[in-house]
Amino acid sequence: MSFKVYAVFAPAIALAGIVAPIPNQAQANEKTVIARQLDMKSMAEAAKLIDGMFKGSTSYDSGLFKAAAESIHKRSGRALVAHFEDNPVLAGSAASSTIMTESAVFAALANDLRVYANSLSASAERHPDELTPDMRMKAGDVKGLGPFGKKVDPAKEILTMSAEHAFHMMLQTCTSCHTRFRQKPN
Ligand code: HEC
Repeated sequence: MSFKVYAVFAPAIALAGIVAPIPNQAQANEKTVIARQLDMKSMAEAAKLIDGMFKGSTSYDSGLFKAAAESIHKRSGRALVAHFEDNPVLAGSAASSTIMTESAVFAALANDLRVYANSLSASAERHPDELTPDMRMKAGDVKGLGPFGKKVDPAKEILTMSAEHAFHMMLQTCTSCHTRFRQKPN
């Protein structure tokens, strides 16, 4: 190697030395995807547990009910949004690029989830012994919300909503977000 060539490459070699200890981007992306999919799976487990108690296939236990609601609560809102913030579209991920272009809608759904989960947790606390009739859906409760619009503003209506109604609305929130922001598996 002539001196001239070495002089050109020396700074690049020095720079590579500095850059090397930083974990590589592909690994970081993989971690992001694993972490957010794990959080989603934990929420699905928690929702399943609460569902079993409403259906009566599992006996009501306010402590477990509350823990499940809190498990969803802590993974919702800001925590959920943060998982997708830098770049939603990564290898191994089903997240849609629309998360970036419609970030306000995404954040609103993540926050709705938080409101419902919080309400369910409070409900379990108020009902330590039994799943009482006042926790049940009432005739005329609007169960559904369209995939792209909501008929219910959770912030306003949560106070008068039964626990079971809040639970159904929460599941609708999961579905709404998936319909809009998760790509269908091929
Ligand atoms: C604000 C949007 C949003 C909400 C709300 C939401 N999800 Fe998700 N969910 C996603 C996105 C986006 C993905 C795809 C993540 C990926 O593959 O990187 C996903 C993926 C999943 C997965 C698949 C995880 C895997 O292993 O690939 C499950 C299960 C899931 N969600 C369950 C739920 C449940 C249950 C709820 C409600 C309690 C919920 N989600 C609420 C956006 C949301």
